[in-house]
Amino acid sequence: MSFSIERYKEESKKLDTAGIDWNAVTSSPLSNGDLFCLHYMMDIENHVPLYLSHLLVTRACMDPILTAFLACWNYEELWHGENIGKFLNLYGIEFDTQDRIANVRAHLGVQNSVSLMSTMVGSWLLKDFSAVYLTIGAINELSTLTGYGALIRKSGHPVLRDLLGRIIKDERRHFAFYFNSAKEWLTDNEKAQRVDRWMLDRVWVPVGQGVKTQEEVDALALYLFDDEQGEEELLALDEKIGKLPGLAGIKLMSKALYAARERKGRNPDWASRLIDREEWAVAPPKKSPIGELTTRRARGGDSADMLEVM
Ligand SMILES: [Fe+2]
Ligand SMILES: [Fe+2]
Repeated sequence: MSFSIERYKEESKKLDTAGIDWNAVTSSPLSNGDLFCLHYMMDIENHVPLYLSHLLVTRACMDPILTAFLACWNYEELWHGENIGKFLNLYGIEFDTQDRIANVRAHLGVQNSVSLMSTMVGSWLLKDFSAVYLTIGAINELSTLTGYGALIRKSGHPVLRDLLGRIIKDERRHFAFYFNSAKEWLTDNEKAQRVDRWMLDRVWVPVGQGVKTQEEVDALALYLFDDEQGEEELLALDEKIGKLPGLAGIKLMSKALYAARERKGRNPDWASRLIDREEWAVAPPKKSPIGELTTRRARGGDSADMLEVM
């Protein structure tokens, strides 16, 4: 698996959706579990710009190759979220994409700023921060594309297979960048390997956790991977990450699945109740309405006033 940043810059583009049979979205049914996963995935794809804001204040961004990658990557991820949202809307689930994104962000609260500050400070204190960040990037991209593959399998929905199949191709390229960059950083660098392993064992969480609650993360993991094939896929994922220098035998995604099973063992309603109750709407938060955080405060008569001022 090789990666050329020059080629990536040349070829990076908006997801090509030509030929997707959008008219057939309602022809095949989706389960509550499928719908739960699609909302989760859409929210996390749409969260990428905020994730990027955490990275751009770190020492990792002194590297122009990394910032060139991030510029293209961020644009590509935008269209993943947009198209999953379009799919859900066409399936008949009504929401305004911009309101939903704003609500998800408004729920982040003060811990988002704390996390941004600690990532920034940590990166400048830790010389090998890039090794950790790049490895986490590789895990995130690989678990995302593995999750999309599992959802294609679970749902059996032909249009979703087509859409997610195209997104998976983008995620593979993203994974190739992160994996190769992490490998480069870690090769013959024992100190970085030790730091990387230490951090992954202690601070790593599955993609989406933080934006989503532990129970939501577990609901997705158990729906997609709590069978023989799913478990094998997660073990294979860990094995791939374990090929990075210093990470042999590391257990991350499989460990997250076993921890989710344990929580469900203690409380049988855990996770599945979110899917049963169709809890995927995101309500506006009580304390910070989106009108205070976005330009969407203009509603009805207000928007006319704004236009007049302009
Ligand atoms: Fe994506
Ligand atoms: Fe990606």
